[in-house]
Amino acid sequence: MDIANFIDEGAWVISPLEGKSGRVIAIVAETSADVAAREALLDDAMGPKRKKKSSEKLRRGRRPSEGLAFIARDASGAVAGTVRLWDVRLGEGGPAALLLGPLAVDPLLKSAGIGSALMRHAIAEAARLGHAAILLVGDAPYYGRFGFSAARTGSLAMPGPYERHRLLALELVDGALDGAQGTLKAAGRKLKAQQLTSAA
Ligand SMILES: CC(C)(COP(=O)(O)OP(=O)(O)OC[C@H]1O[C@@H](n2cnc3c(N)ncnc32)[C@H](O)[C@@H]1OP(=O)(O)O)[C@@H](O)C(=O)NCCC(=O)NCCS
Repeated sequence: MDIANFIDEGAWVISPLEGKSGRVIAIVAETSADVAAREALLDDAMGPKRKKKSSEKLRRGRRPSEGLAFIARDASGAVAGTVRLWDVRLGEGGPAALLLGPLAVDPLLKSAGIGSALMRHAIAEAARLGHAAILLVGDAPYYGRFGFSAARTGSLAMPGPYERHRLLALELVDGALDGAQGTLKAAGRKLKAQQLTSAA
């Protein structure tokens, strides 16, 4: 069902879920204390094959783009959803962009608007921080509502198997993807050795 009462001020979302009236979800910056719960949620929502995706090649061993890792937290403090954005380059030596993902919501809380709230907040923050474009691999029928499409990604490629029609992009700056071509390259800050074990 849809959020009946959606408030996005400072990223607070009020979502009266069926049978759980007045449930409050906040979209906030992820902290190191959220990592284990985020990973458990991703396993639940996406299954064990999630780490074999091409997107993972651009994330492995890297930290998310500065200020662009978010969770949805419920009133008890539990992690109800997650989204992160990663620094990439569009082709060797090409322009900088962001790769979004994974986006996931606790399967018990689906269709309450939490995924949309995470997406809107992530896009707004990426724009506020001056990023020019966001790419992702996902379902156009879902991500189209946030402005993503495959219209500008025909000359771009993921570094591994993927379905071309699922490589989507959103320009935050008009023309940011003009002439963009080639395979996406990881460009994020590298994780330190001790972070590699916990950050996934
Ligand atoms: C996809 C996901 C993040 C959406 O989160 P959510 O909080 O349920 O989404 P919202 O409440 O904002 O939106 C729900 C709407 O999106 C639709 N939707 C969800 N996934 C969709 C998909 N893959 N394609 C098309 N529509 C989709 C729902 O049917 C619902 O439609 P409605 O508004 O007409 O009822 C969540 O379902 C999830 O975690 N899925 C498993 C992980 C995953 O697939 N991540 C995305 C990788 S592409």
